[in-house]
Order: sequence, then C-alpha cells, then structure tokens
Amino acid sequence: MSDRIVSPGLLGEESPADTSLRPRNLSEYIGQSRVVENLQIALRAAQGRGEPLDHVLLYGPPGLGKTTLAYVIAAEMGVNVKVTSGPVVERPGDLAAILTNLREGDILFVDEVHRLSRTVEEVLYPAMEDFCLDLMIGKGPAARSIRLNLPRFTLIGATTRMALLTSPLRDRFGVVYRLDFYDIEAMRDIVHRSATILGIPIDEAGADEVASRARGTPRVANRLLRRVRDYAEVKGTGVIDRATASAALAMLQVDALGLDESDRRVLHTLIDKFDGGPVGLDTLAAALNEDADTIMDVYEPYLIQLGFLERTPRGRMTTRHAYSHLGLTAPRPEAKPDSGQERLF
Ligand code: ADE
Repeated sequence: MSDRIVSPGLLGEESPADTSLRPRNLSEYIGQSRVVENLQIALRAAQGRGEPLDHVLLYGPPGLGKTTLAYVIAAEMGVNVKVTSGPVVERPGDLAAILTNLREGDILFVDEVHRLSRTVEEVLYPAMEDFCLDLMIGKGPAARSIRLNLPRFTLIGATTRMALLTSPLRDRFGVVYRLDFYDIEAMRDIVHRSATILGIPIDEAGADEVASRARGTPRVANRLLRRVRDYAEVKGTGVIDRATASAALAMLQVDALGLDESDRRVLHTLIDKFDGGPVGLDTLAAALNEDADTIMDVYEPYLIQLGFLERTPRGRMTTRHAYSHLGLTAPRPEAKPDSGQERLF
C-alpha cells in the first residue's frame, strides 16, 4: 500500500526531486495561512530578542509539510537543522549525543515525536526546559548525577497522532500548530509552482484537475503531476490540459475526489461486510488485512475530511455521502419502533 500513487508517505523514487520543490522560506510557502501568520510573528519576535524560537509542535496528517516547515523555520532563523525521528533515537545516550552536537540557536527536528521512548523523553525534559543534560555516572550507591549545559536550541516535534503524546512532553512545547489539508486554491498554486520549477507545460484547467484530485496534500500533487506529465508526453501533445490530466488520472485509477483503489476498498469493505458499520478499528483492519495504525494515519484522515467516514464510540461508520460517491444507494435509516409516546412530541 505504501507505494500507491496517492499515498501521503514518501515514495523511494522521489526524495531528491521533492526536495527541489520544497519552499525554502516563508514567502515561498503556499497555504496554511493561519500557521504561517502566527509563525511570522513568533519568528520576528524571537529575532528581535536575539533568542531561539520557542519549541514548536507541528501536528496533522502525513504529507502536509511538517518537515518542510521545519526547514523553512531554520532558513528564516538562519540556523542549522538536525533531523531525526522518534523511533531512531533508541537510547538516552543517542539523544545526549545529538543534543551535545547542536550549536547555539540550532533546530532539532524530531519526526514522529510520539514514538520516543519514556527513558529518552526524560532526558528531553530538562533539555527543553533548562537547556541542561542530566547524566548519571556510575552505578549503585556511588552513582551520582552531573549536569551539563547545552546550547539553547529549538525543538520542532512533528506528529500525526497528537493523542499519543505524553502530557509532560506536550506541555513543554511553547507553540502548537495544526496543519490542515490544503484548500483547492492553495493546491492549484502549488501545482503551478511545481510545474514551473520542473519545466512542465500546464494550463489553468490542467492544474485544476491535478489539484482537485490530490487530496489536499502537496506531496500527492507533486507525484500526480509527474505521472500526468509522463502521460502527456507519451499520449498527448506534452502540454497538460484538463482532458490529458483527466485521462492520465483515470488510468491511474485516481477518481475525481482523489480516492484510489485502496480508499475505495476501505469503504466497500465497511459497506459490504459490515453493513456500513459501526465496526471496531481492529476488526476493520483484520478484514482489510492492513495494519490498524495505517488505516488510522493514512486512509482515515482524508475519508473523514470528505465526510465519507465517521469515528464513533461504537466504531467506524460510512456516511450516505460515501454510498453516493460509490454509486450505491444508502440504506434508509432504520425505522424507530413506534412506542406510541413519540407521537406526543
Ligand atoms: N511544495 C510542497 N508544499 C508546498 C507549500 N506549502 N508551498 C509551496 N510549495 C510546496
């Protein structure tokens, strides 16, 4: 599933090209205007005081530019960024090595910050709060702790799962920004910008077609753009117009709303096997032969955003919008048993 064309995760082939498409500073950054405006103020204030930026927590679905934003922040502050991720930092010593290698003002970007182990997190608390590292030397009764001063740095944590963050860690971030799916205007602008950088001829309608099928996710838009270019070069005139984009995307089985076969399989499984739900996440995962975390992080956010799926206390449910998108007739709501009383009201 991770190699599907609309996957918000990184695909192996594209990392270098994707880097060239990344905005390098805030003025190049399209969309997320609420986050950008708040960030501009925080950056200017920190620069005015000659201090590093407060620790920042970025959260939201994958592919919306959390890493990109960390690089943009570093560029705006004129500092270096060290990138790592929660599961990579296995032991407290690994984190100590990273922290002691930072320079004054540097940014430490920790992706999947909710996956840091508790013992590593405990090293992070004094580092975030007091820019100190508490090291234990020796064992048993002779053990003692020494405190090392660290350079003042900014931690940028990124997570797709805010609820899994421990509250002591969450509380140590000065600012929390939620990234949302990009609106269609921002997506069109991103497609145009990427096409210009890559030298791909595209007209307004062609850009609109790619943008509207990219699930509000720049990474998906950039990937679709490259595939549509291939199609335009081989089957068309080389220019991406609406007809070419539409034909190319239909061939990739990406539908008008950007859903692919895997998304439709989630909806069809819910409808065909579980009468549209509610069904528990683990049962759904077993029926799909997928990992529950993948369903939650990768498939559900966009289906929920479209209003096709609901997370209810009793489990996952499809909505009537999902039925109509799939060309199915939604079952009528179950008739309530007539108690006689209801007529009174
Ligand atoms: N490429 C990917 N994300 C982008 C963004 N938010 N703005 C501009 N270009 C992008």
